[in-house]
Amino acid sequence: MRHDHLITSKQLSRADVETVLDRAAEIDADPDAVADRHTNTLLGLLFFEPSTRTKMSFETAMKRLGGDIVDMGSIESSSVKKGETLADTVRVIEGYADALVLRHPKQGAATMASEFVDVPLLNAGDGAGHHPTQTMLDLYTIRENAGLDDLTIGIMGDLKYGRTVHSLAHALTNFDTRQHFISPESLRLPREVVYDLHQADENAAIREHDSLEDVLPSLDVLYVTRIQRERFPDEQEYQKVAGEYQIDAETLEAASDDLTIMHPLPRVDEIDPEIDDTEHAAYFEQAHNGVPVRMALLDLLLSDERGGEDDE
Ligand code: NCD
Repeated sequence: MRHDHLITSKQLSRADVETVLDRAAEIDADPDAVADRHTNTLLGLLFFEPSTRTKMSFETAMKRLGGDIVDMGSIESSSVKKGETLADTVRVIEGYADALVLRHPKQGAATMASEFVDVPLLNAGDGAGHHPTQTMLDLYTIRENAGLDDLTIGIMGDLKYGRTVHSLAHALTNFDTRQHFISPESLRLPREVVYDLHQADENAAIREHDSLEDVLPSLDVLYVTRIQRERFPDEQEYQKVAGEYQIDAETLEAASDDLTIMHPLPRVDEIDPEIDDTEHAAYFEQAHNGVPVRMALLDLLLSDERGGEDDE
C-alpha cells in the first residue's frame, strides 16, 4: 500500500485491499489489542457536506485506537463562510492533526487538497467522484458474506452520480467478479468510468441493464444505492427517476436464498423495511463494519507515517 493519501480506489491493488481487510478482521476479533496504539494522535475532520456514518465511524475508529479528533464543524461556523479557500483550510488544519479526512461536494477536491498537505489525506467522498474508504468496508462486508472471488454482483440505482459505485466497481476489478449494472438509462455509469474499468482489467466482465428482473436470480450480492438528488442539475430530471428501482419481499422471490443485499445508506425508499429482518439484509452490518475497517486504514497509514511502527 502507498502509505500516503487515499483518494480513489484506482490506486489500490489486490494486495493493498487484502492487507486492509485482514488487518480489519484482526481488529474486529480483538479491538482491545489496539486500544492504546495511537494515543496522542489527532485526526482532522473536514466535512463540507452532510455525513452521519462516515464522519461518526472515523471519529469512533480514531478514539478506539486511543487517539482523538479535531473537527472543523459545520461550514456555517467555520472560516469557509468568510471565503477561505480549500487549499488554505487544509494547510492550516494539517498543522493541528496527524491525518485529515475530507468530504467535499466538488469532484476532484480531495486530489487538489492532497497536493497542499504532507500528512495523509483520506477522501471521504468528493462530489460524484470517489469514496474509497466506503469501498473498503463494502469489500469487507462482501468478503464476509459471499467471498470476493467468483462473485456475481448487481449494482443498482444511481450509477451516474453514486461515488460509492465508482469506487466499488474499480476495486472489484482486482478480483474475479462479474459486475451487472442496473439503472435507468439517464443514470447509467459514466462512460469514462466504464472506460477506466476496462483499462484496469481488459477482461472486465461488465454488463449494463435497465431492469433487475433478468439478472436477479444469478446474483450473490445486490448493492442498492440512493438516487443522489442533491447532484441533479434539474429537480424535474430527479422527479422522472425518483422511486424507480425499489425492492421489497416480493421482488426477492426470484432471488437466490443466499443473496446478500447491501446499501451504503442512507436509504430513501429503495429497500422496503420489510427486508431488514431477513437473512438477505447486510446493510446495517455493513455500516458497523465502518469502524474496524477505518481503524485498520488509520492504523496502517499512521504507523507508516510515524516511521514504520511494527505491526503488533
Ligand atoms: C454515501 C455517500 O455519501 O456517498 N453515504 C455514505 O458515505 N455511507 C451514499 C449516499 O449518500 O447515498
